[in-house]
Amino acid sequence: MCGIVGYIGKRDTAPLLLEGLQRLEYRGYDSAGIAIQSSSGGKPAGLKTAKTKGRVRDLEERVPKRFAGTAGIAHTRWATHGVPNDVNAHPHLDPDEKVAVVHNGIIDNAAELRAKLAADGVTFVSDTDTEVLVHLIARAQSERLEARVQEALRHVEGTYGIAVLHADFPERIVVARNGSPVVLGIGENEMFVASDVAALVSHTRQVVTLDDGEMATIKAGDYRTYTTEGSRTSSSPETVEYAAESYDMGGHDTYMHKEIAEQADAVDRVLRGRIDDRFATVHLGGLNLDPRDARAVRRVKILGCGTSYHAGMIGAQMIEELARIPADAEPASEFRYRNPVVDPDTLYIAVSQSGETYDALAAVQELKRKGARVLGVINVVGSAIAREADGGVYVHAGPEVCVVSTKCFTNTVVSFGLLALHLGRTRDLSVKDGKRIIEGLRRLPGQIAEILAQEEEIAKLAQEYAEAHSMLFIGRVRGFPVALEASLKLKEVSYIHAEAYPASELKHGPLALIEPAMPTVAIVPDDDLLEKNRAALEEIKARSGRILAVAHQEQEKADHTIVVPKNEDELDPILMGIPLQLLAYHTALALGRDIDKPRNLAKSVTVE
Ligand code: F6R
Repeated sequence: MCGIVGYIGKRDTAPLLLEGLQRLEYRGYDSAGIAIQSSSGGKPAGLKTAKTKGRVRDLEERVPKRFAGTAGIAHTRWATHGVPNDVNAHPHLDPDEKVAVVHNGIIDNAAELRAKLAADGVTFVSDTDTEVLVHLIARAQSERLEARVQEALRHVEGTYGIAVLHADFPERIVVARNGSPVVLGIGENEMFVASDVAALVSHTRQVVTLDDGEMATIKAGDYRTYTTEGSRTSSSPETVEYAAESYDMGGHDTYMHKEIAEQADAVDRVLRGRIDDRFATVHLGGLNLDPRDARAVRRVKILGCGTSYHAGMIGAQMIEELARIPADAEPASEFRYRNPVVDPDTLYIAVSQSGETYDALAAVQELKRKGARVLGVINVVGSAIAREADGGVYVHAGPEVCVVSTKCFTNTVVSFGLLALHLGRTRDLSVKDGKRIIEGLRRLPGQIAEILAQEEEIAKLAQEYAEAHSMLFIGRVRGFPVALEASLKLKEVSYIHAEAYPASELKHGPLALIEPAMPTVAIVPDDDLLEKNRAALEEIKARSGRILAVAHQEQEKADHTIVVPKNEDELDPILMGIPLQLLAYHTALALGRDIDKPRNLAKSVTVE
């Protein structure tokens, strides 16, 4: 949520920052801005800024051609405090235009600080929490910029990733992190800073990720890191796993399409090197759970938000089925607010694509505080939740840029398949069943490719269903989380209202909604619930409802069936959602939606 990028070096800064903002726009896209250390005749000439409500392309139009400078910071915003408008856009400046700040996160005590500063004669121009930070830095008395920022941060409660530019210190940018990511990018006689490596990788893959409570000063030729208290910290650069091309659209019209299309390769990647045929199990190097610990687990509780929660629901079913450990999933956003009983014999698993989602991170921190063992099932390597967890599984989906999650959902569910198999084989899952699951996992990439090859037909169906104002999604047991996820995909990208119900619940209420204008998407796997699912289709048909089934064979009662390849029963949910990602995509396309950046949303919800 929100994106920060900064640069200091010899190159013309504005174009670099605007390019970085384009790459971060998925993090927030309701306003954007830039501040540059300008120079005249080789001498510093103060800060120049431009900001606007709207997209980065709107900002580009506002940046004058001669906006020269060799240091600067920029921001793309997802509004929390204050409506999206030009004034609330970042960077924020003090009245003397000496200090410019871009900020991700939320300052919890902003109202209190604002009142104190106002009583001291400060006039505020924006409605943002960030502006208090600007005034605090501008009023700080210390000689060095670093010390002024530290002085200001001492007053602040909340989360932040900030970058600070000061007209009197033109050769440096000062950054700080507390709960909101900050990454330094190391170039040749130039340095970058960003809230996300996506903004850096086209320039450098050498990065340093700051920890919470850490700050850095970047100059063209070097950087140093230290704590908000001023003690030096040691930080060695790491190489970003994926090259710049992985963050590009690669010939597709949208990131969503690219990411759906990548799924066969992504699943192949998450399986690679992990399967052990000899013992019919898998190796998950980062799990930090020895067999004795694994056997001692009496319960599994999975926590995640949105799509990650849905992936966790499927994961819980896999763990129950394969490892016979009671398991369930719960939205991380709710968990910590009900003062949960934290049980030492329960294994907690946090699921997150970004590894930065505040609600999931806060749940993990609460669990750790209470002494629980927490694993992560995470996509972004080295992210906050990955660092906080005791161990876990990286899902290796690669960068996911579309706000709407697709390939990461699939890879997360496959990762749960691996974890369930691993736990199962430390307990009572037989070698025979272990081999059966391994064979099933190996079939997945080819079967995903078969599903994706049906895109043209699914696109035609989408044209038809795009007319609906509301849709129902149903499934039973393994099919229910698939229905939930498919309904979320449809609503977030097409804005068509969609609801998911267990098919068994139809009679208990939702059947009242059925009429020709309310289509139902039904998940109908060939498993022991096939006849029960068919009975639900009968009930809908008897009330003149239209039905689109996702099934392993044509369904007589359905108006249309998308036939997907059969895998092992336990692994079927991995495949059954994929055609519905395509359905959501093509429905949104038919309706002319902004597919990669749905309204009101942003990738990685780093605020509560
Ligand atoms: C939906 C979607 C969101 C995220 C949720 C959690 O397509 O992307 O529901 O799944 O905000 O995000 P992560 O997985 O990054 O914790």
